[in-house]
Amino acid sequence: MSIVGAMSFVSSRAQVEPFRVMQILGRALARDDAILLCVGQPASPAPAPVITGAHTYLDTHTLGYTATLGIPELREAIADWHSRTYNVRTEAKNVVVTTGSSGGFVALFLAALEHGDSIAMTRPGYPAYRNALKALGANVVDVVCGADTRFQPTVDKLEKLNPTPRAVIVTSPDNPTGTIIDPEELARIAKWCEENECLLISDEIYHGITYGRQCVTAHQFSPNAAVVGSLSKYFSMTGWRLGWLIVPDHLVEPLENLEANLALCPPAISQYAALHAFGQDARAELEGHVAKYAAARDVLLRELPSLGLGRFAPPDGGFYLWVDVSHLTENSELWCQHILDTTGVALAPGTDFDPVDGKKFVRISFCVEPEQVSEAVRRLKKVMVDTTT
Ligand SMILES: Cc1ncc(COP(=O)(O)O)c(C=O)c1O
Repeated sequence: MSIVGAMSFVSSRAQVEPFRVMQILGRALARDDAILLCVGQPASPAPAPVITGAHTYLDTHTLGYTATLGIPELREAIADWHSRTYNVRTEAKNVVVTTGSSGGFVALFLAALEHGDSIAMTRPGYPAYRNALKALGANVVDVVCGADTRFQPTVDKLEKLNPTPRAVIVTSPDNPTGTIIDPEELARIAKWCEENECLLISDEIYHGITYGRQCVTAHQFSPNAAVVGSLSKYFSMTGWRLGWLIVPDHLVEPLENLEANLALCPPAISQYAALHAFGQDARAELEGHVAKYAAARDVLLRELPSLGLGRFAPPDGGFYLWVDVSHLTENSELWCQHILDTTGVALAPGTDFDPVDGKKFVRISFCVEPEQVSEAVRRLKKVMVDTTT
């Protein structure tokens, strides 16, 4: 029998950054008293009708593979929800159900873009776009966005890019900043994309979680945009791993062929159960969660300035605050570790979201009970006088 020596099979495409939020989470979970303001995961379970539905389907269905693009009833339900919410005409044939929006992004990148294409995303921005795109061989182009544009891209910024990107990702409400793009600017970007043969990818996974501002879908401005949605956030179903793409006709078959080979189908039990996520009962429960996020947000908006953490753009939606801590530390990773060690409050260092300036920022998630946020503030107050690292 031959002895095979230790060989290394790590590809260069696997050399992506770790998700540091998960490292902080790991350390936090090792404590009994941790308050998790580091992850973007609703503390609530799926709506009751979804859970009841899941039990029923478990008892009555074989739950084998489903159609690759998703079960027709769910594609229909998503199209209907999208049409009603935004007063647009979205058809089930353009809906592709995916394994979380994360699975949808990878499939979409593969279906629409060539190796080496330039893709524009905001910095700060959601790190998995950057890392997944890099692994797929794309050229990620940063659109640096600050408080002046409320961390959202503008046509002016896109015009300055050279070469013109093949795709632009707009995230609204945004992660990590919680800002919502102005409808007029999204309309301008959609038009610019049409004129420049650039695919507009609109990440709308935080839609439904807003605080007094409305979200618009990119489909209101362009039938050619790719819209990305998810059951993870508003619908409080992170671990059920369901998301969707709404794409123009020409992308449906390529996505079907790719997904058939990459994933076969999205999780069956989640799809059947998710049929119950769009009804009135679920809606009432989900609006209750949004009310709690709003209360938690109010606590932070009121209290953070008194902790010396007053430099942020008030979030219009989602459940994050992007806070400038550059006056307290030169390294938000060390600072977050220090805060976790001394208070049990887990915050996310900004380095995941901004590889250049992220050490100056932290992201605070507030998708927990408002009381937990109050308790976090109480603990932070105790140590904030003495935390400069
Ligand atoms: C902006 C954004 N897009 C996409 C995702 C992926 O979410 P999921 O795969 O659970 O739909 C996340 C997760 O936090 C996110 O913040």
